Amino acid sequence: MTGPDGRPQSGLMGSRPSQEPQQTVLLLVLGTQVQMLENGLLRVPPMGWLSWERFRCNTNCKNDPKNCISERLFMEMADRLAQDGWRDLGYVYLNIDDCWIGGRDSKGRLIPDKERFPNGIAFLADYAHSLGLKLGIYEDLGKFTCSGYPGTTLDKVVLDAQTFAEWKVDMLKLDGCYSTSKQRVQGYPKMAAALNATGRPIAFSCVWPLYDHGLPPRVDYKLVADTCNLWRNYKDIQDSWTSVLSILDWFVTHQDILQPVAGPGHWNDPDMLIIGNKGLNFEQARSQMALWTILAAPLLMSTDLRSISPQNVDILQNSLMIKINQDPLGIQGRRVIKDQNHIEVFLRPLANQAFAIVFFSRHTIKPYQYSSSLAQLNLTDATMYEAQDVYTGDTISNLKQTTNFTVTINPSGVVMWYLYPLRKQQLFQH
Ligand SMILES: *[C@@H]1O[C@H](CO)[C@@H](O)[C@H](O)[C@H]1NC(C)=O
Repeated sequence: MTGPDGRPQSGLMGSRPSQEPQQTVLLLVLGTQVQMLENGLLRVPPMGWLSWERFRCNTNCKNDPKNCISERLFMEMADRLAQDGWRDLGYVYLNIDDCWIGGRDSKGRLIPDKERFPNGIAFLADYAHSLGLKLGIYEDLGKFTCSGYPGTTLDKVVLDAQTFAEWKVDMLKLDGCYSTSKQRVQGYPKMAAALNATGRPIAFSCVWPLYDHGLPPRVDYKLVADTCNLWRNYKDIQDSWTSVLSILDWFVTHQDILQPVAGPGHWNDPDMLIIGNKGLNFEQARSQMALWTILAAPLLMSTDLRSISPQNVDILQNSLMIKINQDPLGIQGRRVIKDQNHIEVFLRPLANQAFAIVFFSRHTIKPYQYSSSLAQLNLTDATMYEAQDVYTGDTISNLKQTTNFTVTINPSGVVMWYLYPLRKQQLFQH
């Protein structure tokens, strides 16, 4: 049975208009029962590392032992996360993506590829935990994963959830290749319930909306947010600035739909950070970090942490940036200005009446000087603000609503401010 929005409905919900009052009551009751995802997890966006964009489905361990999808790769990344300052800044998830599965055993339980994961996933989870990290894993709701490995299918959802819990996995990314819309609307909530029933806290990352074109009416964002801790809305990121821009543009075009859905425990996911790879120059790398932070996006790096440059480390390990991304209010920012001169301004409200502001330039040739005032950004709450430039650390003092300021934005670059009101005592000190 299919509802007006094309989503399958249960027989209980479909009834004639004359029965509407009872139907409403019934829906309310059902509604409270299906609120299964207050699992208390991911009150702030997850941070960590995910193999896909950089390492893909490289299974050629004979010729490329250092970079193939294997135990060795994940252990080496775990070491880097723990030893190079990442973990202590919050980058704790070590997430496996596609191409780890070897098959199923005689009882139907998933087993990893024996050659590439000789000690099994539980061993990797223990290793991650011993370093203060968390392990994420990947499956797919269809018959196959996107790369053609065995999928979970509806009948295996409970068993697979139990297997992941036994292995002490901490996050599941459930993809949607080879699944139908109907299977997804059943399968994602079924997996959420199965994960919950294991008793182990396992964050749930759903690659769900994107397979239904990312928007209502085909996507029911209330159901998605009640089911998943994070979800992929749009296409996979690739290692290019064009890809970053196409994702940003889609998120901004649909911000009225997407922005209200995000909050503590449930996040839109514009996909991985590609900083440290080949596709972005320095300014573009800074821009991806700033824009993803403004969007309250997960910060899941997909790069080789064994060889990342100090410049890129600085971008990813900027502690004020991370503090903004991890703001406890968890409000997703919005684009508030699209200037005719190819400048866009993004704003994200933060705790303690602070704001993050990103001035973003689409110019590609030369730096652009952009002038504005807090009044033009509708920031009229406090009498006096101070701003800290998130990348340079410079302080911009005595910002009244009408103070005109000018920022110089590099091509494809950003200027990012952490803006906070000066309180009365601080004002007296000035
Ligand atoms: C399962 O769901 C209940 C109700 O939302 C919640 O209180 C509990 O923490 C969840 N448990 C796990 C392991 O996710």
